[in-house]
Amino acid sequence: MTGMPEDYKALAHAVEDLYDHIADVRTGDKEATETVESAIDLLDRGVVRVAEIDGSGSVVVHEWLKKAILLLFRLRAIETIEVGPFEYADRLPLKHGLAAAGVRVVPGASARWGSFLAPGVVLMPSYVNIGAYVGEQTMVDTWATVASCAQIGARVHLSGGVGIGGVLEPPNAVPVVVEDDAFVGSRCMIVEGARVGQGAVVGAGTIVSPSIPVIDVETGEELSRGTIPPWSVAVSGSRRREFPGGEFFLPCVLIIKRMKEGERHDKITLNAVLREHGVST
Ligand SMILES: CC(C)(COP(=O)(O)OP(=O)(O)OC[C@H]1O[C@@H](n2cnc3c(N)ncnc32)[C@H](O)[C@@H]1OP(=O)(O)O)[C@@H](O)C(=O)NCCC(=O)NCCS
Repeated sequence: MTGMPEDYKALAHAVEDLYDHIADVRTGDKEATETVESAIDLLDRGVVRVAEIDGSGSVVVHEWLKKAILLLFRLRAIETIEVGPFEYADRLPLKHGLAAAGVRVVPGASARWGSFLAPGVVLMPSYVNIGAYVGEQTMVDTWATVASCAQIGARVHLSGGVGIGGVLEPPNAVPVVVEDDAFVGSRCMIVEGARVGQGAVVGAGTIVSPSIPVIDVETGEELSRGTIPPWSVAVSGSRRREFPGGEFFLPCVLIIKRMKEGERHDKITLNAVLREHGVST
């Protein structure tokens, strides 16, 4: 799906108009709430998404959907939500109809209304925020967080404790994108609009951000920051830097291997087996 489906042009314009006067938008405005909530409902059902990769491989952001999310927070009041002995106070409900959507959500996991979970997604106790898109058969493992508007592909494994950063403002900012078949190791942080290419393996504990250099160890070449090339294996490294106060080491990302397109890393195969049987790692 690229561009905006024709049917939603009028809705997009209505959202843009509201956003142009966001300072005047008040909680409880019925007409504005109806407009904005119909946009969020489209996100919730995966009919539209905040960002996607176009035919040329670039990430295209549909700003009107981010604007709808920002408006939603102004329009909705805090409500009390009670679940057994637990009480919450929030502006947004959680997703509903999970079994019908073909997803498995383990107790302790939360996915907010306006996020999309494709069929076959498994959420271990983890968090998926509004505007996020999680593709088919993807595993979001324990304590992983998929922040607002992040775009996660199909058959991805986000290991335990992974932090996928959210990018809501400004509306044209590119969200984090993890492409199909990628594996993100435990406790990685993928932030500030970083992109993990298709089939890439990111070793445990790696920080991927546009501020941190990515270096190919075979060639020594510095690659595009914040981007892990498709079908590569990346781990966390460090580089020496001289400062007036002395010599220190700053983090970098090292591309230690290139795999063939479609190749699965042998250490990741075990995880695929565990996932098929619904066991978290
Ligand atoms: C990246 C990973 C897949 C290893 O890939 P690999 O291609 O087999 O790489 P190797 O094990 O041959 O390691 C290559 C070099 O990178 C280093 N390295 C491996 N993983 C690393 C990591 N996460 N961070 C920093 N360095 C790492 C190794 O020490 C090795 O250096 P050496 O040859 O001097 O010892 C693996 O280490 C990893 O992080 N797996 C994810 C684990 C995980 O999070 N699982 C989730 C559920 S438990």
